[in-house]
Amino acid sequence: MDKLIFPGDAPSQPEGGVYLCPSDALQNGGQAHGFDVVYAGQTCRAFVIRFNGEVQAYLNRCTHIAMEMDYRENHFFDAEGQWLLCATHGATYDPQSGECVGGPCRGGLIKIEVIEKDESVYWLTQYNLREPDALL
Ligand code: FES
Repeated sequence: MDKLIFPGDAPSQPEGGVYLCPSDALQNGGQAHGFDVVYAGQTCRAFVIRFNGEVQAYLNRCTHIAMEMDYRENHFFDAEGQWLLCATHGATYDPQSGECVGGPCRGGLIKIEVIEKDESVYWLTQYNLREPDALL
């Protein structure tokens, strides 16, 4: 049974923040948490990871060819948990900045603002990165 949450117990959601996952769902260099965003009028996948203790999020779109990058759903890191890889042709990105560091990528990943608060991870929507439901 789910834990009951009383009004005074609920974590306060940051203004403009969309809840993504609990903080402990993201381990350094581990599996990502995927979510949908609307970017340039299209619904796209995005992902949030933890690296060096901080959460970072990016659009799941390689800069070589606009394809999703994960080799298995929500798996982006190399075996050492140091770099983000594109499964198609091996483009390699810096997890901290999203910059291209190797392979055929052209520029960096599109960064998405995320924060941690009260043991939870939130996405801070922007004018060009919105929730799919926001278009309805
Ligand atoms: S599509 Fe990502 S490296 Fe080619």
